[in-house]
Amino acid sequence: MTSLADRPVWPAPTAPAGHPALRRDAARVLTGNWTGTSTVPSRTLYPHQWSWDSAFVAIGLRHLSARRAQRELETLLAAQWADGRVPHIVFNPAVPHGAYFPGPDFWRSSRAGRAAGAPSATETSGMVQPPVHALAAWLVHRADPAESRRRGFLTRLRPRLTAWHDYLLTRRDLGGGGLAAVVHPWEPGMDNSPCWDGALRRVEPAPPGTFRRADLRHGRAADRPTDLDYGRYVRLAADYRDAGYDDRAARHAFAVEDPCFNALLIAGELALAAIARDLGEDGTAHTARAERLTRRLVARLWDAEAGVFRARDLHDGTLVGERGVGGLVPLVVPHLPHAVAGRLRATLAGPCFRAPATRLVPSYDLTGPVFDAQRYWRGPAWFNTAWLIHRGLRTHGFHQDAARLGHGLLTEAGRSGFAEYVDPTTGAARGAREFSWTAALALDLLCAGSEEPLP
Ligand code: SER
Repeated sequence: MTSLADRPVWPAPTAPAGHPALRRDAARVLTGNWTGTSTVPSRTLYPHQWSWDSAFVAIGLRHLSARRAQRELETLLAAQWADGRVPHIVFNPAVPHGAYFPGPDFWRSSRAGRAAGAPSATETSGMVQPPVHALAAWLVHRADPAESRRRGFLTRLRPRLTAWHDYLLTRRDLGGGGLAAVVHPWEPGMDNSPCWDGALRRVEPAPPGTFRRADLRHGRAADRPTDLDYGRYVRLAADYRDAGYDDRAARHAFAVEDPCFNALLIAGELALAAIARDLGEDGTAHTARAERLTRRLVARLWDAEAGVFRARDLHDGTLVGERGVGGLVPLVVPHLPHAVAGRLRATLAGPCFRAPATRLVPSYDLTGPVFDAQRYWRGPAWFNTAWLIHRGLRTHGFHQDAARLGHGLLTEAGRSGFAEYVDPTTGAARGAREFSWTAALALDLLCAGSEEPLP
């Protein structure tokens, strides 16, 4: 593959006046984290390609180089498995094996995943992350439709994106209710959210001496999941691997329907409808699927009393008691009933999610019993969820709330040095710095302010 790394691809700035330094700094982060074919989330903590990170990165990168943004998604989707799954990590063979745990030696995808259709020439993980890719592909296309058409970008990606969604809606409909299930806390992307605590209690952790974490070499222990969490993550991933990553054969000690994951699938179906129309084809099957999924999302996961969507634990069929930011992300769904969108807006402005210091949205209920302002997804505010909720608020016409959140996103991104996440009670930066999706999504807000939401 030809490397784009040395090409002068950055076009003239298009950012509104007032933010030229932030735009420049965000571009510098994305340039620094570009490997030649994709973007690492962080040079230290996450030195490979991650699935939903790449989708968010492409959404920002399109303002710097539409071609590079296309390449980001193409590289990820080139590692798609024959059963349709898009792996959550694509390993870079040039990176030393010990740089990240669990690495290729753990997943052994090309051997353990052979029957499920894992690629033979690329090592990947065997699980998935939220399906933001169709939305990203559509937004990347719109940044430069002529270049996209010249390269056949949508024509090439569309079958892969469709197969990805088909995988989720068939093999992963573990609850039989028409929603996609996640089978590991890494899959919804919010690893140690208190929303998974109950389901994880059933999982026997792998003994501490049987694996070695790499993350603590780069991050503060107080910002990261605990060793007990990791023991359970390792056990679940190893069991899935040992079942050949076969969703029918695997035991799935953890199986949950997550509102954020499914909301993104709905947004992705609407993006696929738009992609089909752009290619001169019929998009109604995707629109119908999005509408059906929306009805199921509301029927299965909406808690009207609490004013938030909840995850459903498929082991006992109950809704999870904890409130997480994933329960607010369904605002991105355009066909949500008005009353539901209004309640979500009110929840965002209420005591559980109105962060005192940042205007961002905490990852977990500020009043919840295990709120932790520093530890990864147990309280800190993240930039991807802020971007999604910002988009959702605009979609439903809540423009003032969106402006407030967008302002918070840009302020905190700049002030924190594009941190991975921030303490919502003080604004202090946490996790990695120069984090790719933080830079990419700040850039997107700066450059795409007047863009219309999807129909
Ligand atoms: N988020 C996980 C990690 O911290 C894996 O995707 O490594």
